[in-house]
Parts: sequence; C-alpha cells; structure tokens
Amino acid sequence: MPKRDFLRNTDLSRVETLDLLAHASRMKSGADVARPLAARVVGLIFAKSSTRTRVSFEVGIRQLGGDALFLSSRDIQLGRGEPIRDMARVLSRYLDGIMIRTFAQADVEELAAHATIPIINGLTDLLHPCQLLADLLTIQEEFGTLDGRVVAWVGDGNNMANSWIECAGLLGFELRLACPDGYRPDQSLLDAARHHTTIHLTDDPREAVQGADVINTDVWTSMGQEEETAAREKAFAGYCVDEELMKRGSSDAIVLHCLPAHRGEEISEEVLEGPQSRVFDQAANRLHAQKALLAQLLG
Ligand code: CP
Ligand code: NVA
Repeated sequence: MPKRDFLRNTDLSRVETLDLLAHASRMKSGADVARPLAARVVGLIFAKSSTRTRVSFEVGIRQLGGDALFLSSRDIQLGRGEPIRDMARVLSRYLDGIMIRTFAQADVEELAAHATIPIINGLTDLLHPCQLLADLLTIQEEFGTLDGRVVAWVGDGNNMANSWIECAGLLGFELRLACPDGYRPDQSLLDAARHHTTIHLTDDPREAVQGADVINTDVWTSMGQEEETAAREKAFAGYCVDEELMKRGSSDAIVLHCLPAHRGEEISEEVLEGPQSRVFDQAANRLHAQKALLAQLLG
C-alpha cells in the first residue's frame, strides 16, 4: 500500500474524516485501547513553538504503544540549511512517521514528496489540519452531528481560517468568515471549497455570527508575524468575540479557540471562561483526534 500523508484536511475523504472522528470517540471513551504503534517511532519536527501539539502528539504516540522523538529545528541540521529532500530520505530510514510544524506549506509538501514514511502537518503558515480534527470532534460531541451546523469565523484569515474553509468544502457545512480587508483567507482555497458548500465572507463580525452554532476565533498575530503586531491590533479593532457578539449567535452556540488566546484582544475573558466556551474540551480533543489519525496512517 502506498504511504498516506496528512498535509491538509482534504488528504482524507469525507467518509475517512467521519470514520476518524468516530474512532477518536471510541478511543476517548476507553472502548478502543489498541496499541497499533507498538515498536514504531515518530519524529516531531518543530520550527515554531508549541504546547498542545507537541504534548498531545508525544502522549498520544506513547498511549498507542509507540515512541516519539522531539526534534527542534534549532538543533537539527534543517535549521542550518540542510535540504529538506535530504532530510526526508535520511529520516525515512530511521523513523516510521514524521509530524512537522514549520512556516511554508511548500516545505511540508517537499518533505512528503521525498519521504517514504507518512508525513503529518502540525501547522504551517497556510494550514492547521490537526487542530481542525479536534475542532470537528468537539462540534460532534456538542451537537451529535456536523450536518446542518453553521460555523462562524471572526478574525484573521490565517492558517486556522484556511483549514476551516477546507473542512467546510469537505464536509458540506455552511461557513461564514468575518475578516478585515487585507487579512482575508487564501483565495484559491475559498474558490475550491465554494464548489461544495456555502461560504460567506464579510468584514462585519455581527453578520458572520448571526444565528451561528459555532463561533470561532484565533490570535490576530500568528507565529512568525510578530513584527506586524501593532498594525494588526489596529486592523482587528472591533473583532473581539465578546458577550455582545455572542448574543447574536444561536441560543445554544459554542465558542472555540485553538489556543493560545489573548484575552481582551480576539476574545474576552468572560467568553473564554464562560458557559458557552468549549476551548478546553477542544484542546483535550487534540489528543484523541490525533491518536485516531496516527492509527489510520501508521497503524
Ligand atoms: N493550538 C495549538 O496548535 O497549540 P500549540 O501551538 O500550543 O501547539
Ligand atoms: N494562528 C496561530 C495558531 C497557533 C496554534 C499561529 O499560527 O500562530
């Protein structure tokens, strides 16, 4: 069988994604305690910081019977310019799979093209597909199904917004994004997903969240954009998910944030800590969703 990579959510079909979420639920409930990664070693390459992704992958791999190697780009030759295609061929001879968090999506694609082992995208500037698996699982747990749900995105058209667009196209739910001019999501991803579902783009957060079941946001300044912080604070004024904005969502709406969060910027303290927040269940679901992913790609 050819190896499978997970570089974006559309690398899995709709059916495979729903099966994966069901498997994640079985793992979470304790109904599936198999150890399909026994004797397997997975490398975790990080060129950016991480709390959740690193720990949930390390713990998940161990719970599945495998071993994880944390590889900071500061310490491996990648950080000194060793070509990705060389690293891909070398690491394929030691490891059984690689998760990588880095800047360019093209680098992850190059790694996958030259590696003979499965590659998982643990966040790039363009996409954050593993986070979306956890987010979808959280919505399913809340509402039973994704069908017919309306998801709103308020803030930067960043890697998270782009992955939401891919998932809307894949699974067919309605997505509404509110992003300021100059901070819109990737146009080619939008065009592709719009063949499969309704995606509304506005610069008015109130319009995006009207009647929505799921209200999502993320930091205004992503990793690698720190020099733009002041300009971004200006551009995103009025894009805070606060109690006022939440009133416009559906009465049983939930709030998601991939974390880390900046309270008082993209989300208020009251909403983050309030009864509609599911952000810590969402963070917990990183573990379960990624275990199902690892079992599928490496088991
Ligand atoms: N949400 C997320 O990916 O968190 P980390 O940056 O801590 O991994
Ligand atoms: N958009 C954020 C997500 C962090 C998990 C970033 O890329 O920094």
